[in-house]
Amino acid sequence: MIAAVLEKIGERLRVSNIEKPTLLQDEVLVEIIASAINHRDIYISKGEYAAIKTPCVLGSDGAGKIVKVGNPVLNNHLGKEVIINPNNNWGDNENFQSNNYDILGMPTYGTFAQFVKVKVDRVHEKPKHLNFKEAAALPLAGLTAYRAIFTKGKLETGQKVLINGIGGGVAQFAFLFAKAVGAEVFVTSGKTEKLQASKDMGADKGYNYKDENWHKQLNAEVGGVDLVIDSAGGEGFGNLLKIMNPGGRLVTYGGTRGKVTNLSPQILFWKQLNILGTTMGSDEDFKNMLAFVSEKKIKPTVDKVFTLANINKAFDYVNAQRQFGKVVISA
Ligand SMILES: NC(=O)c1ccc[n+]([C@@H]2O[C@H](COP(=O)([O-])OP(=O)(O)OC[C@H]3O[C@@H](n4cnc5c(N)ncnc54)[C@H](OP(=O)(O)O)[C@@H]3O)[C@@H](O)[C@H]2O)c1
Repeated sequence: MIAAVLEKIGERLRVSNIEKPTLLQDEVLVEIIASAINHRDIYISKGEYAAIKTPCVLGSDGAGKIVKVGNPVLNNHLGKEVIINPNNNWGDNENFQSNNYDILGMPTYGTFAQFVKVKVDRVHEKPKHLNFKEAAALPLAGLTAYRAIFTKGKLETGQKVLINGIGGGVAQFAFLFAKAVGAEVFVTSGKTEKLQASKDMGADKGYNYKDENWHKQLNAEVGGVDLVIDSAGGEGFGNLLKIMNPGGRLVTYGGTRGKVTNLSPQILFWKQLNILGTTMGSDEDFKNMLAFVSEKKIKPTVDKVFTLANINKAFDYVNAQRQFGKVVISA
């Protein structure tokens, strides 16, 4: 089968022929119709991720059809249109993942291929209102955003939320989920055109995080927010505390801009703020996210589609932060 293989850290992916996976009894083979890129794939290819094993086929997001099963008892799954839960071994505790936890697409071979094998309990029926490209955009980013917004962030109708860095794949889902429950949603971006696009999608206001006074402007215009969703960290993190209402929650799931150097303990304790970390989501979160997306008929923001043969161009596109939403790989 054709797959995009990361042979060595720092190299481009090599689109080549590799052996089709052989199935264990509890596994199914999914013919990938579309997959999607996450920042995780970029980090792994650059060597900026823990415990990297090569060679490997990256890709945590995928949607397609079940074409083979590891055991005749699973025959009823043949032909099903599915999306894949990229969690492996979350474990029993809803609060955090087990020590055996890993994510599809390193160390296990992932979805940037014609076929992927996964345990049968990792596949879920594709939401009917989504085509394969939209469905492929959903799993990892949708799961992370769902847990950040609801399980951890406890967002409620009418509350104010700021999504920091709206161009990101997870940020886009956080935005769509927050709008779907009737929150007031504010965004930041480093690019004016992304702020405009967010307004077109219904953002209440947008601010450029490169403007050093953006937080003062938000406070003057909005008067503070109840929830902040962040994946940047870095120097800008300190300003996020300044725009939070007393008792507010900040949920962080990433550190794109590195270490936080300017956090004020005084603001944190005086305003009784809560900073919460989150990663991916449990299998329960995944099921709840799928039900929510289906009920609200939420459609992922698919920015651009590349072919598997052109996957390195897709990586460059995301690495240069040109995306507004998800970048999908499809024939
Ligand atoms: N913990 C988890 O489970 C988990 C899951 C998914 C992702 N992540 C992490 O979360 C981060 C985002 O992932 P992703 O896949 O959504 O990435 P992505 O699609 O590549 O988006 C990254 C976004 O970060 C924003 N950004 C860059 N510098 C910023 C700054 N100084 N302030 C605010 N925003 C800034 C940019 O927004 P603009 O283009 O609008 O400026 C950019 O679009 C990555 O670090 C990733 O590893 C963690």
